[in-house]
Amino acid sequence: MPVLAAAATRLRQSPIRAVTLAIQARGGINLGQGLCDLPTPEPIRDGAHASLDAGVSTYTAYNGIAPLRAAIAEKARTFNRLPVRSDDEVVVSVGSTGAFAAALLALCEPGDEAVVFEPFYGYHTGLMRLFGIVPVSVPLDGPNWDVDLDAVRAAITSKTKVVVVCTPANPSGKVWTEAELAGLLALAEAHDLWIVTDEIYEYMTYDGRQHVSLASLPGAYDRTVTVSGFSKTYNMTGWRLGYAVARPDVAERIGLVSDLLYVCAPAPLQHGVAAAFAMPGAYFDDLLDFYVARRAQLCDALEQVGMAFTRPQGAYYVLADTSPLRARFDGFENADAAMQTLIEKAGVGTVSGTAFFADSARAGGIVRFCYAKEEPILDDACRRLIETFGR
Ligand SMILES: Cc1ncc(COP(=O)(O)O)c(C=O)c1O
Repeated sequence: MPVLAAAATRLRQSPIRAVTLAIQARGGINLGQGLCDLPTPEPIRDGAHASLDAGVSTYTAYNGIAPLRAAIAEKARTFNRLPVRSDDEVVVSVGSTGAFAAALLALCEPGDEAVVFEPFYGYHTGLMRLFGIVPVSVPLDGPNWDVDLDAVRAAITSKTKVVVVCTPANPSGKVWTEAELAGLLALAEAHDLWIVTDEIYEYMTYDGRQHVSLASLPGAYDRTVTVSGFSKTYNMTGWRLGYAVARPDVAERIGLVSDLLYVCAPAPLQHGVAAAFAMPGAYFDDLLDFYVARRAQLCDALEQVGMAFTRPQGAYYVLADTSPLRARFDGFENADAAMQTLIEKAGVGTVSGTAFFADSARAGGIVRFCYAKEEPILDDACRRLIETFGR
């Protein structure tokens, strides 16, 4: 029989889905999956209805409909402070994941190395491996996930082509500071590297922190691809709409790759999502208030059960170390065991830390909780944790 491609043979279904099934079977609350159960804002849904009713159902331009690209370009200029000159610097794709995949294929050859920061987002490294790009992880340090630029320098080889930054980060919640980004940019310039930034959580930064787009730093735009999307900010993960912003010739290559992979993003939904840009400022204030409250709710519960964690600076996850629970309970020997025990004993789904580290031993007893849940649901999960493991 013919053999399958080695890269495809190595793929495994995400453990996040297995957690979903286990929680459904046992009954409980799934804080594993990184999606928000709040509704998509009404103007966006109305926009999609209207475009469906108007019969919008054919392919769009490969890089997205013109009004949507214009709106994204304007948002990139004003919110992200990117020096975008033309709407042709925007590529709409199938989720930010589609934009990220197209960017990797536009920038890298098989065999190239890509620096990622650990704990990393598994789709970044997974796509790299699928494309024959070698992820090289640089661990972030200590409780605040500080970046060690000497470690980045040491990880760069003659094969390094790109550095990938996720800010605010999934899963650590780290929000990169301007100084950290400037340090990284200097290294990228010295070694002539591309930078790809994943900024999908850009509206979720806490305690007065500001989101800084690396491409807004002087001299950065021409070597940076900025990736973002609508999934998280507008609770629409299933619509599959995201985008990349880059200098025109780079955007064109990313767009042509995206064209081959997807042809275009869903046409009626592209029209619908244009309404996102008319959302009032209060929408973003409310979003932040909601997540600040959910963060407090979850962090209080984790404190009460004695897990060790750093309050996330952004995004909507807490990476918590369950190893302090070993003194009081069985089933917390490592991250996978902790994830199982939390499901079996408390009915709370998490993601094992092994998903975020190149060497699973480095995950220790870490699990990831997602707090993008309606208050009563998160309340139920917190109550379950405290009743089962409270001190
Ligand atoms: C860092 C990061 N990037 C991208 C995505 C997926 O985004 P999209 O739905 O736009 O493909 C996620 C979803 O969890 C994420 O955490």
